[in-house]
Amino acid sequence: MNLEKFERYPLTFGETAIEHLPRLSAAVGGKVEIYAKREDCNSGLAMGGNKLRKLEYILPDAIASGADTLVSIGGVQSNHTRMVAAAAAKVGMKCRLVQESWVPHEDAVYDRVGNILMTRLMGADSRIVDDGFDIGIRTSYEAAIEDVKAEGGKPYGIPAGGSVNKFGAIGYVAFAEEVKKQEEELGFMFDYIVVCVVTGSTQAGMIVGFADQGRADRVIGIDASGTVEQTRAQVCQIVDNAADLVELGRKVTDDEIVINPDYAYPAYGVPSEETNEAIRLAAQTEAMMTDPVYEGKSMQGMIDLIRKGDIPEGSKVLYVHLGGAPALNGYSYTYRNG
Ligand SMILES: Cc1ncc(COP(=O)(O)O)c(C=O)c1O
Repeated sequence: MNLEKFERYPLTFGETAIEHLPRLSAAVGGKVEIYAKREDCNSGLAMGGNKLRKLEYILPDAIASGADTLVSIGGVQSNHTRMVAAAAAKVGMKCRLVQESWVPHEDAVYDRVGNILMTRLMGADSRIVDDGFDIGIRTSYEAAIEDVKAEGGKPYGIPAGGSVNKFGAIGYVAFAEEVKKQEEELGFMFDYIVVCVVTGSTQAGMIVGFADQGRADRVIGIDASGTVEQTRAQVCQIVDNAADLVELGRKVTDDEIVINPDYAYPAYGVPSEETNEAIRLAAQTEAMMTDPVYEGKSMQGMIDLIRKGDIPEGSKVLYVHLGGAPALNGYSYTYRNG
């Protein structure tokens, strides 16, 4: 594999910490050791998260295109659009965002706090529209690109989650090399890597990176989209593109792509009681904040797979924490009593 050839615009602090979680490990039975890779603490830019690893490789393409405006799309409490707004502010570009109504919500301030609050503070032109959840390319996004052009700007479009972009997965291919290096320092290897998946390029990048080490099938994607066929199709497509781009030298096979659909219920952005229990357990044992949209569901999935014995006794598990805690502010009613 050759990652040196890709230009990278630094937005993160560099290597992220791997933290042992002994109290969470004990609380789920004490037979499996859980560690977290803290992608949620990866940067000083607007609270960071997985999107910055992606944007580090997308931004050079945007700059080379001569663009003056980054255009993107997500839900009202999108972490991705917060990170696009942060990248735009950091490089001095404008930012135009479409925020779709992906989640039915009960909080009166849902559209004023957390991610969207920070997005607005960073100066992005953020516009809420009525459309529901869909990870695909949307007409509202295409219209926003046309609007910027009509106003005399030069847009660079970044689809939902930064996933369907030529360079969207490279950051997480590099992540696999980073984990390998850290394992050498730790003196052991992880048996499983658990990661949340929705728009796909985080897990797809990891799959390609770990395929180079012969262990892509140890990456367990926990679907949080609730539309798992669409997510899986998008992951497969991104894996194929990224494998070509980084010169993996072979095609990744279907059985190397592991996505578990069991924890996305009842819907994208809506936590189940089991999700909420997982969020509380991580908070109360390790002070680790996970959100009801993404990481709470992958936390729930990991806990359940360990308790059921699907992740066998003696395993070492790396839970990849991709960020997203700002969205908790939009769920103050759900967590009013903790
Ligand atoms: C906090 C968080 N976790 C997980 C994901 C899922 O990552 P991806 O969209 O690359 O599958 C996202 C973004 O969608 C996210 O913001």
